[in-house]
Amino acid sequence: MTSILSHSAAALTGTITVPGDKSISHRALMIGALAVGETTISCLLEGEDVLATAAAVQQLGAGIEQQDNIWRVYGRGIGGLIEPSSVLDLGNSGTAARLLMGVLSSHELSATLTGDDSLSSRPMERVMAPLREIGAEFVARTGGKLPITITGTGTALPGDETLKVASAQVKSAILLAGLNAQGNTIVIEPQPSRDHTEKMLNFFGADISVEKMTDGARKITLIGQPEITGQKIEVPGDISSAAFPLVAALITLGSDLTIENVGINLLRVGVLESLRDMGAKIDILNKRNTAGEPMADIHVRASNLTGATIPASRAPSMIDEYPILAIAAACAEGTSVFEGVSELRVKESDRLAAMAFGLKDCGVDTETTGDTLTIHGTGSAPKGGVTISSRLDHRIAMSYLVLGMVSQEPVTVDDGGPIETSFPGFIQLMNGIGAKMDEC
Ligand code: S3P
Repeated sequence: MTSILSHSAAALTGTITVPGDKSISHRALMIGALAVGETTISCLLEGEDVLATAAAVQQLGAGIEQQDNIWRVYGRGIGGLIEPSSVLDLGNSGTAARLLMGVLSSHELSATLTGDDSLSSRPMERVMAPLREIGAEFVARTGGKLPITITGTGTALPGDETLKVASAQVKSAILLAGLNAQGNTIVIEPQPSRDHTEKMLNFFGADISVEKMTDGARKITLIGQPEITGQKIEVPGDISSAAFPLVAALITLGSDLTIENVGINLLRVGVLESLRDMGAKIDILNKRNTAGEPMADIHVRASNLTGATIPASRAPSMIDEYPILAIAAACAEGTSVFEGVSELRVKESDRLAAMAFGLKDCGVDTETTGDTLTIHGTGSAPKGGVTISSRLDHRIAMSYLVLGMVSQEPVTVDDGGPIETSFPGFIQLMNGIGAKMDEC
């Protein structure tokens, strides 16, 4: 375990890029493995989560080569993956585990999936239930937890599911299973979630359509067994990673920072809307498209933030950004209320508890009532001066290191290791623009 100490920082200035989008990176490898021919990926996130997916698709028979920052995937075609000879270890990655469960459901093979202590405590029944409907079988640990052995079927039925949880992972698992089902797979999501799978399947040539319903729901229809062929993909920077330097710049006096090439998928930008509601000065520049995804440069300046109420309806579009938004709220003037955030309890850690207790320890008054988190911002430098447990959760570790940048006393995070899952080079990048973080 390497603990990291974050001291009070100078103004953050400069122009940076952040590592590739984690969600898009996983999907590029998996869909590339199911396509016919070669897929070339640049700017793939080379974090532990995505490397676990790369290793898994290799164990399933896809060819993977890496040269400098270009990754090549030699796909086996839809339904063409082979039974792995050993366990698939997905480390800390919920996306890798759940999406692969979808892929494997419609292959005639058996595979056992495992992960670290954090992943092995996360709920998998939400994915297994719809996949059983199409013919897959599962043997799971008590409570539907990993390790899980899945036996897929070569004659999968097409899924027809209305999602019970707003989850892009569940939606994507059903759609990926539907690639090798005969007929139309239909997923209705009452609350829209990130649509990277839909966009990427379309980019690879699958026949997939999205209908917006009058009540705001989305109905996605995928025609089974399409011909998908290898593509060239440039992965945009991850807005979930960009959110850390972005909030750091907002709360550090005199900062003026540009983050280039960030993915701004409409179903991911809730954090920008929420920060603007709090008075953040954020400009989106140079909008363009890459592999069917929108991308832009984000310019941010230090701002006097005020508390805001973030409605539950926005949760799916910023689900991973609540920890760092909580840091912004802790430094803002007045009270912020995050409504409808119960899903935070089943992320890499119980993020609701991690933010409520950790902020209290740092001298910020917080309350949780049901699925609402209330933060009474200090409007000035919080006390800090404590050691926070990262709970095997990269975003908890990075959030508290950002808080240390504006606290009266340094903040220590007990284990910086989990940061490698999504943001390799985080400490160096932050120190390069004005942070003072030391490994100790
Ligand atoms: C992801 C979906 C979200 C998010 C996760 C990545 C994805 O999870 O929290 O980090 O790539 O589909 P849920 O689907 O559980 O909300």
